[in-house]
Amino acid sequence: MCFTDYLFHSGSNKIIMKKINFRKKFEKFSEHWSPKVIAELNDYQFKLVKIKDDFVWHNHEHTDEAFIVIEGKIFIEFENRTEEINKGEMIIVPKGMNHRPFAKNEAKIMIIEPRGVKNTGRLNNELTAPNDDWI
Ligand code: NI
Repeated sequence: MCFTDYLFHSGSNKIIMKKINFRKKFEKFSEHWSPKVIAELNDYQFKLVKIKDDFVWHNHEHTDEAFIVIEGKIFIEFENRTEEINKGEMIIVPKGMNHRPFAKNEAKIMIIEPRGVKNTGRLNNELTAPNDDWI
């Protein structure tokens, strides 16, 4: 799939913009903890992720990270508290702050962060997802 199929030039060189439907995009994958890029805004990417069970403790040295819950409920554990984020809510995790997301039941979320950010921060393990994986 062309990675910017929502923005393209027509024959007369006009830019065509197509809307993006989250539900249709979520139907395209089933794996957990594997962010899929659906759009870019300048240097930022919009990624859809299905999450369930526990992720690893990590932080992002160079960037804040936005979590928006589209369906279900997630939790983000910080060193001194755990935040519950429900459908229709969002949270910004500041740069450098340790966090551990988890969900008791499958939840569908959007992450907004700069292009090139690794989901597990500095760690490389079985939860490290491929970067720039467009759907
Ligand atoms: Ni993170």
